[in-house]
Amino acid sequence: MSSQVNRPLARGQAPGKIILFGEHAVVYGRPAIAAPVQQVHARAEVWPAAACVVEAVDLARRVVAADAPADDPFAHIVRLTCEALKRPLPPWRIRVTSEIPIAAGLGSGAAISAAIVRAMLAGFGAELDNAAISALVYEVEKIHHGAPSGIDNTVVVYEQPVWYVRGQAPRPFAVARPVHFVIADTGVASPTRVAVGDVNRAWKQDKSRYEALFDAAGAIADQARVAIERGDIRALGPLMDENQRVLAEMGVSSPELDDLIRAARAAGALGAKLSGGGRGGNMIALVEEENADRVHRALIAAGAIRVISTTVPPTDVV
Ligand code: MEV
Repeated sequence: MSSQVNRPLARGQAPGKIILFGEHAVVYGRPAIAAPVQQVHARAEVWPAAACVVEAVDLARRVVAADAPADDPFAHIVRLTCEALKRPLPPWRIRVTSEIPIAAGLGSGAAISAAIVRAMLAGFGAELDNAAISALVYEVEKIHHGAPSGIDNTVVVYEQPVWYVRGQAPRPFAVARPVHFVIADTGVASPTRVAVGDVNRAWKQDKSRYEALFDAAGAIADQARVAIERGDIRALGPLMDENQRVLAEMGVSSPELDDLIRAARAAGALGAKLSGGGRGGNMIALVEEENADRVHRALIAAGAIRVISTTVPPTDVV
């Protein structure tokens, strides 16, 4: 009996993510590449309760699913999941925790929603495929982001590197050799919604310039996919640098990101760029495995508040 009280009815989790190439341009239909970051997760636990409540521990928030406004992301994902499964709101306390920094470009919102869906599926003893889970999470991404491309929900739900074009099924692709990254957080919170909105305003004011930048980012993502499929890791570094130049021209870099990117390159990274919405949040540096520690230390010395080393493992998907 006591073991039942101390154990949740069910659990779910989802990883963080990094965008390797093509953020922002992906909102406008160009391809992008993203990968999960398994070093950080959002987690949800289902506990018995009198009513359906989401308890977001890190945010000190408690949301009663039946009463919350339509744009509450926690209540929305719970209600959407129940609708998809044709179930009433269950008498559960859904306890959410996350190691993924918020507003930092690592997909925390999408991962939290995905963790909640997975925990609820386990609690109900029900199943949905990844496409259906990703579609539910996408609905909540609209609350977080306004006009999301769908890449964040896709990569955190599928949990594999994806080649993504808006409106199309994600295309897993072969990773011929491990690709090592060091991820560093500027500590500057930057909601994706704001950066995406600013790019949209700038695009409306000068469409031909922004379309050319999006084309450039898309072409870089195309070349990067070929390099990853061939295991030509060294070719990826200059492509990351070029993508960063294009992102800076879009207006989404920042002095803090630029400092970390410079520090990573000076410490021997093969290439470096911002990752996600930009303006703050995280940057990523492509490294050779033996140089990861040196780049890690250089990023801390340059002011990063948190540094994570991650590897995109080889896959044989073609
Ligand atoms: C956010 O991780 C990536 C952006 O391209 C926004 C989106 O694709 O929805 C900035």
